[in-house]
Amino acid sequence: MRGVFIVLEGIEGSGKTTAARRLAVRLAAEGYDVVATREPGGSAIGERIRSLLLDEPVALCAETEALLFAAARAQHVREVIRPALERGAVVVCDRFVDSSLAYQWGGRGLPRDDVLAAQALATQGLESDITILLDLPVDVGLARRAGDVGQTNRIDDESRAFHERVRSAYHALVAEDPGRWRVIDADQAPELVQAELSRAIEPVLARQPTSIDSQDDELSGVRWRP
Ligand code: TYD
Repeated sequence: MRGVFIVLEGIEGSGKTTAARRLAVRLAAEGYDVVATREPGGSAIGERIRSLLLDEPVALCAETEALLFAAARAQHVREVIRPALERGAVVVCDRFVDSSLAYQWGGRGLPRDDVLAAQALATQGLESDITILLDLPVDVGLARRAGDVGQTNRIDDESRAFHERVRSAYHALVAEDPGRWRVIDADQAPELVQAELSRAIEPVLARQPTSIDSQDDELSGVRWRP
Protein backbone atom coordinates (compact mmCIF):
# COMPACT_ATOMS: atom_id res chain seq x y z
CA MET A 1 0.00 0.00 0.00
CA ARG A 2 1.31 3.44 -0.90
CA GLY A 3 0.13 5.58 2.00
CA VAL A 4 1.40 6.04 5.54
CA PHE A 5 -0.56 4.88 8.55
CA ILE A 6 0.16 6.80 11.78
CA VAL A 7 -1.61 5.81 15.01
CA LEU A 8 -1.70 7.69 18.32
CA GLU A 9 -2.34 5.80 21.52
CA GLY A 10 -2.50 6.69 25.20
CA ILE A 11 -4.50 6.63 28.39
CA GLU A 12 -7.24 9.10 29.21
CA GLY A 13 -6.03 12.67 29.37
CA SER A 14 -2.85 12.01 27.41
CA GLY A 15 -3.72 14.77 24.94
CA LYS A 16 -3.64 12.42 21.98
CA THR A 17 -6.75 13.78 20.30
CA THR A 18 -5.39 17.34 20.26
CA ALA A 19 -1.97 16.10 19.14
CA ALA A 20 -3.52 14.07 16.29
CA ARG A 21 -5.53 17.06 15.09
CA ARG A 22 -2.56 19.40 15.13
CA LEU A 23 -0.44 16.85 13.32
CA ALA A 24 -3.10 16.39 10.63
CA VAL A 25 -3.40 20.14 10.08
CA ARG A 26 0.39 20.53 9.84
CA LEU A 27 0.77 17.68 7.35
CA ALA A 28 -2.06 19.03 5.20
CA ALA A 29 -0.37 22.45 5.20
CA GLU A 30 2.76 20.72 3.92
CA GLY A 31 0.75 19.34 1.03
CA TYR A 32 0.02 15.81 2.12
CA ASP A 33 -3.32 14.23 1.41
CA VAL A 34 -4.37 13.62 5.02
CA VAL A 35 -7.22 11.59 6.46
CA ALA A 36 -7.74 12.26 10.18
CA THR A 37 -9.87 9.68 11.87
CA ARG A 38 -10.57 8.05 15.23
CA GLU A 39 -11.70 4.88 16.94
CA PRO A 40 -14.22 3.83 17.86
CA GLY A 41 -15.93 5.62 14.98
CA GLY A 42 -14.67 7.00 11.72
CA SER A 43 -17.50 5.51 9.65
CA ALA A 44 -21.27 5.92 9.86
CA ILE A 45 -21.73 2.47 11.38
CA GLY A 46 -18.67 2.96 13.55
CA GLU A 47 -20.15 6.14 15.02
CA ARG A 48 -23.34 4.29 15.90
CA ILE A 49 -21.33 1.55 17.57
CA ARG A 50 -19.33 4.26 19.36
CA SER A 51 -22.46 5.67 20.83
CA LEU A 52 -23.50 2.21 22.11
CA LEU A 53 -20.06 1.72 23.62
CA LEU A 54 -19.49 5.08 25.22
CA ASP A 55 -22.63 7.15 25.55
CA GLU A 56 -25.25 4.73 26.77
CA PRO A 57 -25.36 4.07 30.49
CA VAL A 58 -25.70 0.32 29.83
CA ALA A 59 -23.95 -2.61 31.49
CA LEU A 60 -22.00 -4.22 28.65
CA CYS A 61 -20.13 -7.40 29.45
CA ALA A 62 -16.42 -7.29 28.58
CA GLU A 63 -16.83 -9.73 25.67
CA THR A 64 -19.59 -7.66 24.04
CA GLU A 65 -17.50 -4.55 24.50
CA ALA A 66 -14.45 -6.17 22.85
CA LEU A 67 -16.50 -7.41 19.91
CA LEU A 68 -18.18 -4.05 19.39
CA PHE A 69 -14.81 -2.27 19.30
CA ALA A 70 -13.65 -4.87 16.77
CA ALA A 71 -16.84 -4.52 14.73
CA ALA A 72 -16.40 -0.75 14.49
CA ARG A 73 -12.78 -1.33 13.48
CA ALA A 74 -13.69 -3.81 10.73
CA GLN A 75 -15.94 -1.23 9.09
CA HIS A 76 -13.40 1.54 9.60
CA VAL A 77 -10.58 -0.45 7.98
CA ARG A 78 -12.63 -1.39 4.93
CA GLU A 79 -14.51 1.84 4.41
CA VAL A 80 -11.94 4.47 5.39
CA ILE A 81 -8.40 3.38 6.22
CA ARG A 82 -7.57 0.93 3.44
CA PRO A 83 -9.03 3.03 0.62
CA ALA A 84 -7.11 6.08 1.89
CA LEU A 85 -3.83 4.15 2.12
CA GLU A 86 -4.36 2.65 -1.33
CA ARG A 87 -4.79 6.15 -2.70
CA GLY A 88 -1.48 7.16 -1.10
CA ALA A 89 -2.85 9.30 1.74
CA VAL A 90 -1.38 9.82 5.19
CA VAL A 91 -3.88 8.43 7.68
CA VAL A 92 -3.66 9.86 11.20
CA CYS A 93 -5.74 7.66 13.47
CA ASP A 94 -6.62 8.40 17.09
CA ARG A 95 -6.47 4.83 18.58
CA PHE A 96 -6.36 1.47 16.78
CA VAL A 97 -5.72 -2.21 17.62
CA ASP A 98 -3.44 -1.45 20.57
CA SER A 99 -6.31 0.28 22.35
CA SER A 100 -8.19 -3.02 22.32
CA LEU A 101 -5.16 -4.81 23.73
CA ALA A 102 -4.53 -2.14 26.37
CA TYR A 103 -8.17 -1.75 27.46
CA GLN A 104 -9.85 -5.10 26.81
CA TRP A 105 -6.86 -7.33 27.62
CA GLY A 106 -4.99 -5.06 30.06
CA GLY A 107 -7.91 -3.17 31.59
CA ARG A 108 -10.71 -5.74 31.49
CA GLY A 109 -8.52 -8.83 31.76
CA LEU A 110 -9.91 -10.70 28.75
CA PRO A 111 -7.62 -13.43 27.35
CA ARG A 112 -5.08 -11.83 25.10
CA ASP A 113 -5.43 -14.45 22.36
CA ASP A 114 -9.17 -13.84 22.17
CA VAL A 115 -8.68 -10.10 21.82
CA LEU A 116 -6.07 -10.73 19.14
CA ALA A 117 -8.36 -13.11 17.27
CA ALA A 118 -11.02 -10.40 17.02
CA GLN A 119 -8.36 -8.00 15.69
CA ALA A 120 -7.32 -10.43 12.96
CA LEU A 121 -10.86 -10.48 11.67
CA ALA A 122 -11.24 -6.72 11.97
CA THR A 123 -7.99 -5.56 10.38
CA GLN A 124 -7.21 -8.18 7.73
CA GLY A 125 -3.62 -7.91 8.93
CA LEU A 126 -3.38 -4.15 8.46
CA GLU A 127 -0.77 -2.66 10.81
CA SER A 128 0.35 0.88 11.45
CA ASP A 129 3.64 2.15 10.02
CA ILE A 130 4.26 3.84 13.36
CA THR A 131 2.37 3.95 16.63
CA ILE A 132 3.01 6.77 19.06
CA LEU A 133 2.33 6.28 22.75
CA LEU A 134 1.68 9.57 24.51
CA ASP A 135 2.65 8.41 27.95
CA LEU A 136 1.93 10.01 31.31
CA PRO A 137 1.11 9.00 34.87
CA VAL A 138 -2.49 7.94 35.41
CA ASP A 139 -3.02 10.55 38.13
CA VAL A 140 -2.01 13.33 35.77
CA GLY A 141 -4.23 12.02 32.96
CA LEU A 142 -7.26 11.57 35.19
CA ALA A 143 -6.79 15.02 36.73
CA ARG A 144 -6.79 16.52 33.23
CA ARG A 145 -9.94 14.59 32.38
CA ALA A 146 -11.65 15.75 35.57
CA GLY A 147 -11.30 19.28 34.20
CA ASP A 148 -13.31 18.32 31.07
CA VAL A 149 -16.72 18.65 32.68
CA GLY A 150 -19.34 16.55 30.88
CA GLN A 151 -16.70 15.04 28.59
CA THR A 152 -16.14 11.73 30.34
CA ASN A 153 -17.56 8.47 28.98
CA ARG A 154 -18.38 4.99 30.31
CA ILE A 155 -14.76 3.87 30.14
CA ASP A 156 -13.19 7.09 31.45
CA ASP A 157 -15.27 6.54 34.58
CA GLU A 158 -13.53 3.25 35.40
CA SER A 159 -11.37 3.01 38.53
CA ARG A 160 -7.85 4.31 38.85
CA ALA A 161 -6.64 0.67 39.06
CA PHE A 162 -8.24 -0.01 35.68
CA HIS A 163 -6.36 2.89 34.08
CA GLU A 164 -3.11 1.72 35.74
CA ARG A 165 -3.60 -1.69 34.11
CA VAL A 166 -4.21 -0.01 30.76
CA ARG A 167 -0.98 1.98 31.07
CA SER A 168 0.99 -1.12 32.10
CA ALA A 169 -0.40 -3.01 29.11
CA TYR A 170 0.78 -0.22 26.80
CA HIS A 171 4.25 -0.47 28.32
CA ALA A 172 4.23 -4.25 27.80
CA LEU A 173 3.22 -3.81 24.15
CA VAL A 174 6.01 -1.29 23.56
CA ALA A 175 8.57 -3.60 25.16
CA GLU A 176 7.50 -6.47 22.88
CA ASP A 177 7.68 -4.56 19.61
CA PRO A 178 9.86 -1.46 20.10
CA GLY A 179 10.44 -1.03 16.36
CA ARG A 180 6.84 -0.06 15.68
CA TRP A 181 6.43 2.25 18.69
CA ARG A 182 7.71 5.65 19.72
CA VAL A 183 7.02 6.76 23.28
CA ILE A 184 6.61 10.47 23.97
CA ASP A 185 6.39 11.96 27.45
CA ALA A 186 2.95 13.58 27.42
CA ASP A 187 3.47 15.23 30.81
CA GLN A 188 5.11 18.29 29.26
CA ALA A 189 4.02 21.39 27.36
CA PRO A 190 1.86 20.65 24.28
CA GLU A 191 4.36 22.41 21.97
CA LEU A 192 7.13 20.08 23.17
CA VAL A 193 4.92 17.04 22.64
CA GLN A 194 4.10 18.30 19.14
CA ALA A 195 7.76 18.84 18.29
CA GLU A 196 8.67 15.31 19.43
CA LEU A 197 5.76 13.93 17.47
CA SER A 198 6.94 15.67 14.31
CA ARG A 199 10.44 14.24 14.75
CA ALA A 200 9.09 10.76 15.47
CA ILE A 201 7.14 10.50 12.23
CA GLU A 202 9.90 11.91 9.99
CA PRO A 203 11.35 8.50 9.06
CA VAL A 204 8.02 7.06 7.94
CA LEU A 205 7.06 10.20 6.04
CA ALA A 206 10.41 10.15 4.27
CA ARG A 207 9.28 6.92 2.59
CA GLN A 208 6.17 8.68 1.34
CA PRO A 209 6.27 10.38 -2.06
CA THR A 210 3.06 12.38 -1.67
CA SER A 211 3.89 16.04 -1.38
CA ILE A 212 2.62 19.37 -2.50
CA ASP A 213 4.37 18.92 -5.86
CA SER A 214 2.93 15.58 -6.69
CA GLN A 215 -0.66 15.70 -5.65
CA ASP A 216 -3.83 16.94 -7.15
CA ASP A 217 -5.02 20.17 -5.52
CA GLU A 218 -8.42 18.69 -4.99
CA LEU A 219 -6.91 16.14 -2.67
CA SER A 220 -5.13 18.60 -0.42
CA GLY A 221 -6.41 19.45 3.03
CA VAL A 222 -7.48 17.24 5.86
CA ARG A 223 -10.42 14.91 5.40
CA TRP A 224 -11.87 14.72 8.87
CA ARG A 225 -13.62 11.51 9.79
CA PRO A 226 -16.22 11.76 11.06
P1 TYD B 1 -12.76 8.79 23.51
O1 TYD B 1 -13.86 9.70 23.91
O2 TYD B 1 -12.41 8.73 22.07
O3 TYD B 1 -11.59 9.14 24.44
P2 TYD B 1 -10.05 9.27 24.25
O4 TYD B 1 -9.82 10.74 24.11
O5 TYD B 1 -9.54 8.71 25.53
O6 TYD B 1 -9.63 8.48 23.05
O7 TYD B 1 -13.10 7.35 24.07
C1 TYD B 1 -12.63 6.19 23.60
C2 TYD B 1 -12.68 5.22 24.76
O8 TYD B 1 -12.78 3.89 24.27
C3 TYD B 1 -11.43 5.28 25.60
O9 TYD B 1 -11.79 5.17 26.96
C4 TYD B 1 -10.67 4.03 25.21
C5 TYD B 1 -11.76 3.09 24.79
N1 TYD B 1 -11.37 2.08 23.77
C6 TYD B 1 -11.29 0.75 24.14
O10 TYD B 1 -11.53 0.39 25.30
N2 TYD B 1 -10.95 -0.18 23.18
C7 TYD B 1 -10.71 0.17 21.89
O11 TYD B 1 -10.42 -0.70 21.03
C8 TYD B 1 -10.81 1.56 21.53
C9 TYD B 1 -10.57 2.01 20.11
C10 TYD B 1 -11.14 2.49 22.51
